[in-house]
Order: sequence, then structure tokens, then C-alpha cells
Amino acid sequence: MKTSTPVQHSRILILDFGSQYTQVIARRIRELQVYSEIVAFDLPAAQVAQRRPNGIILSGGPASVYDKNAPRIDPEIFSLGIPILGICYGLMLMAHHLGGKVEFSGRREYGAAVLHVTNGSELFQGLGAQLDVWNSHGDEVTGLPEGFRVAAKTDNSPFAAVEDSLRKLYGLQFHPEVAHTPRGKQILENFVYHICHCSMDWTMGSFIEEACERVRRQVGEARVVLGLSGGVDSSVVAALLHKAIGDQLTCIFVNNGLLRAREEEMVQRVFGENFRVRLKYVDATDRFLDKLRGVTDPEKKRKIIGNEFIDVFQHATEELLQEDKQKGSDEHSGYRFLAQGTLYPDVIESVAIGGNPAHVIKSHHNVGGLPEKMHFELVEPVRELFKDEVRQAGLQLGLPKEVVYRQPFPGPGLAVRILGEVTPERLNILREADTIVTSEMESSDWYYRVWQSFAVLLPVRSVGVMGDQRTYENTIVLRIVESQDGMTADWVRVPYELLARISNRISNEVKGVNRVCYDISSKPPSTIEWE
Ligand code: XMP
Repeated sequence: MKTSTPVQHSRILILDFGSQYTQVIARRIRELQVYSEIVAFDLPAAQVAQRRPNGIILSGGPASVYDKNAPRIDPEIFSLGIPILGICYGLMLMAHHLGGKVEFSGRREYGAAVLHVTNGSELFQGLGAQLDVWNSHGDEVTGLPEGFRVAAKTDNSPFAAVEDSLRKLYGLQFHPEVAHTPRGKQILENFVYHICHCSMDWTMGSFIEEACERVRRQVGEARVVLGLSGGVDSSVVAALLHKAIGDQLTCIFVNNGLLRAREEEMVQRVFGENFRVRLKYVDATDRFLDKLRGVTDPEKKRKIIGNEFIDVFQHATEELLQEDKQKGSDEHSGYRFLAQGTLYPDVIESVAIGGNPAHVIKSHHNVGGLPEKMHFELVEPVRELFKDEVRQAGLQLGLPKEVVYRQPFPGPGLAVRILGEVTPERLNILREADTIVTSEMESSDWYYRVWQSFAVLLPVRSVGVMGDQRTYENTIVLRIVESQDGMTADWVRVPYELLARISNRISNEVKGVNRVCYDISSKPPSTIEWE
């Protein structure tokens, strides 16, 4: 088997001081085809050096350098000879540690400003003399450390950008990573390419090759199972592992009876027929629906579904072993590895500073439990990737756009969109309504423009009229939201005509529904799903 030593890419290390924008910085850098890695703010200088970054970015953060519990940096980092860009709080720290003066201004400067570039700093090369920038800071630099000079100012601040180009230390009071600083990307580009001399070697093509090699090294000749859900992450992992290890991978697709219409057909078509992945399809509908009979409490539903999934999955791997034995030709030592579609935001160490829950992950988003219960070793080939990168990788691996750009769908499936008891009849109603929502969203070109669009079935009946008949039927809620990451969301102002079409079709075509409501709640205080 062909293997080679891992390459060290150019890389930018981002020390996270709890900014809500840390991941945005990381993604901006990766858009420049340079690998970026987020680490906790207190990583010791020796460990920073060990990672051999071409440059370091100190993120912003909600603290003041004068707070008692302000996050501190190992000051040795400033002497490593590696270029550093301090953003906002990062700049304050730099000034504070290197002998400058930082004052707590008592008010937060928040919003747009005009930046005047005052000398030919490399950071602003090619950007002209004036830039729109976006501020959000409380502390303020009022005196420069020795060796530093001003690179740009705003009306409010004489030290909006500062630098010591000899030591390659740079500081920005504003946020170059946010969209409100329209040319911020070029500032980051200047830092990454011209100051840190990074090469553009982070591409999804090279990622796929390297990830395949890593997987081959990790698993050797052993067998790997993957729970394929049909969602983007597990689909990309399936395609990637299939490329890396072929038939050593078996995907298990569990139909829990809570899927959208024709989901099992789609998965079997894409993976079984097109990719020729070894796919075990398990129809466990009856088991799940039996267990859910009479259950109305949302948390109970989730628990039952989670536990049942683990049992079904375990049983399926045992069956696989039996099947392999019966075939005789396929002697192997069992399924040692479990592959998972863990992504980078799931593995970044959380830094919650000053009550800012920067990247606290909701536990229910991860299908936990499998590895602990079954003593699997984990294969997580996309744990370095952000969601948009996973999608790019999926496209390169030949997955269809319908899979790569599909909307998220919760693990417990339609069960958390049926309020009250989950029964086959109610599942049918919701499935039919859901199919109409999806098809109308697609044909109006709205499907890919929103985070999620779906139907919810309420345990509420109301009076209606059909022909001359009085009806007393179910209510469907339509939920269409936009979001960056599912943590916050807003309802989408889709055209009335689209709402009208969806509503008409649902109440005319779905038997048992006579009323459709549109959910106009944002998250917070609501959630995206109803349970
Ligand atoms: P909420 O309802 O918490 O949802 O605002 C945020 C995002 O997470 C999805 N979601 C889940 N995904 N398993 C999942 O894999 C789950 O149990 C689950 N619950 C919610 C939801 O669809 C939304 O995108």
C-alpha cells in the first residue's frame, strides 16, 4: 500500500480569546487556500512554535485587559520571530505586554468607521488611502510600545492600526474578518501571503488525497463501518472512505421510520448504485414506532430514538459479521473502526469568556453513544473541515448537488416535528406536507437560499369548511429559517405567493389538514425545530 509522510502545509494559528468571530477568521484564511487552526488563548509559546505556523492571529474577545480574569497570552509568543496580527482584544494584549498604553475607555465603540491609512504599511498594500471598517471594542490603545508606529487611524482613534514591521507585529483595532469591513479580506490576504509568506496549498483536491492516505495508514487492512444518514457529513465521509479503502468500508443505513418520503430510495440509489459502496439497509421502522407508541414528551422521544439506534446499529454490525463468515471468502477480524462525520466546529476547544458562549455545541447535534458502547475506534476524516469545505470535498468526490447542498435534517427525524404522539397516520400526513414544502421551495428557487424549510404537525385540530361540509382537522405549521450555523436563526420573508401556493397545496392535497400557519419566530427565543 502506498503511503508517504504527511506534508506540512502553510498554516496560520489563531489564538482564540473568545470572540464570536474566531471561526469567521479561520474560514476567511481558508478561503485564501491557507490552512488555519484555532487553538486556546493560553497555548504555551513552546507548543505554538512546535506547530510551525507561518503566522499567528490573536482574535478579538469580549474581555478588557484590565479584567481580573482577562484571558492572558504567554508573552514569549511575541519573541518567537513569527509574524503576529492582533485583532481588537489581540491588539490590546500586544500593546499591553510590549510596553504600550491601553486604557479602558468606559464605552464600547461599536459600528462603522472610516480608516485613513497613514503610511505604506504592507497590511494595506493595494488598498488606497481610505477604507470602511467595522469596530467593536471597549479598551483603547493610547500609547505605542517601543518600535511601533501608526499605520492607520480613524476620527475616533489615532491608533486604529499599528505595526512594528521589523519584528513583524501588527495590530488592528477594527475587525477585518467581518463583512462590514468590505476590503478586510485583502488586509488578511496581505498578512497571510506577503507578511507570513504562506503558499496557497490548502485545496480540497489535496485535502482529499491526504485524508485518504491518513485513513489508509490508520485502519490498515481492518474493516470500517459508517452510519450513513443521507445528510451531507456522513455522505461525504462515505464517499471519501470509499475512495480510500473501497470495500473495507460498509455503510449501514437505518430506516427508523421517521425519514422524509423516499429518503431510503435516494440513499440506496446514490451510494449503492452510483458509488457501489457496500451498503447494508436496515428497515427498523416497526421497532422504532413500537417504542414510540403513546410517547408525547419530546425528551423521551429523543432518548428512545437514540437508544434504539444504538441497538439497531450494533445488531447490524453483528449481522454483517455473520454474513461475511457465511460467505467464507471474506475472513477478517471484525469491524474495528467506526467512521463519523465530525466537523471542525465540533472539535474546537470551547472558549467561553465573559458569558460569551462563542462555540458551545449543543450535545444533541452529535450522535453520541456509539463508540463508547461498542468499543469502536473512531475514524473522523473530515474533523479538520468547516461545513462549506465538506461540501466542496463532496462535490469533488462526485456527490450530486442534491446531496451536497441539502438542508440539515435532525437525527430523530420527523418525530420531533410531530408534536404529540408519533403514529403511522400522523407520519403520513407530515410526510405528504413535507414533500409539498420541499418541491415548492425547489421549484421557486428558494430551497438552497435558506437554512431549512419544513412542515410541523401540531396536535391541534380546528374547524374548517370544505364544499358544504364542516371539517375538524389538523394544523400544519410551515417553518422557513435562515441561519449561519443553526445557533441563531430568523424566519425568512419569502414572497406571499410562495406561502399561498404551499398553503393551498397542503390544505387541498393532504388529507386530514385544513389549516396552515407560518412560524414567524426567531431563534432565540424560539428554536428552529419545535421539539
Ligand atoms: P434547534 O431546534 O435546536 O436546531 O434550534 C438547531 C439545528 O439543529 C438541528 N437539530 C438536530 N440535528 N440531531 C441533529 O442531528 C438532533 O437531535 C437535532 N435537533 C435539532 C435542527 O434541524 C437545526 O438545524
